[in-house]
Amino acid sequence: MKLFLDSANLKEIDEAVSWGAIDGVTTNPTLVAKEGREFVPLMKEICERVNGPVSMETVSRDAAGMMEEGRVFAALHQHIVVKCPLTKEGLKATRQLSREGIRVNVTLCFSPNQALLAAKAGAYFVSPFIGRLDDLSQDGLQLIRDMKTIFMNYRFSTQILAASIRHPIHVMEAAKIGADIATMPFSVLEMLVKHPLTDAGLERFLSDWERLPAEAKRWKASSAPTPRSKAGAVHAS
Ligand code: E4P
Repeated sequence: MKLFLDSANLKEIDEAVSWGAIDGVTTNPTLVAKEGREFVPLMKEICERVNGPVSMETVSRDAAGMMEEGRVFAALHQHIVVKCPLTKEGLKATRQLSREGIRVNVTLCFSPNQALLAAKAGAYFVSPFIGRLDDLSQDGLQLIRDMKTIFMNYRFSTQILAASIRHPIHVMEAAKIGADIATMPFSVLEMLVKHPLTDAGLERFLSDWERLPAEAKRWKASSAPTPRSKAGAVHAS
């Protein structure tokens, strides 16, 4: 499964990229507004930092406006995937932009039938918002299960991008169901790394290491084993 960062914050993006953890980025108008920066230069900077798809959301309500924005956004950088909402106008724009070879992420998906429509319109990604369904006491993960079944039944190539992820269990369950991608805030990505037994284990290893006498701990590059070539021969130094 691919992991995307749901953020427009460059510091968070740089940090996640440095872990080798993320395959792409999703943004939305709320996340962009939080940064207080000019939209287009910010999106270009994000694209330069990430080696993968970067979702950039349209802000028109009608299909003509979404298509106009989508064409401009897609021309900004090869990583851009245009985000259109799951409305009638959004579907019209998705159909047309997809026909023009522009990748579209259909966002704000809350039902299996909506997902079916997005796939039929030619969406590259469709984003089920599982956390927002959970917030209404509905089962967000069930939406991903239903979408997976439908897409497999009819061999749609549209990828399921699990979104509105709130915690690591969402990520694990989405992976088990077979979502293609999970996008999450930086706080959730950090939670994926953390385990108290890892922290406790490391503390124990390092405190045991401290008990070694200083001479035994001494090392330098020249005392390290000589690197071997691919063929296994020892390099002369
Ligand atoms: C995805 O593309 C959306 O930006 C995001 O996952 C929305 O999540 P939220 O419900 O936490 O705002």
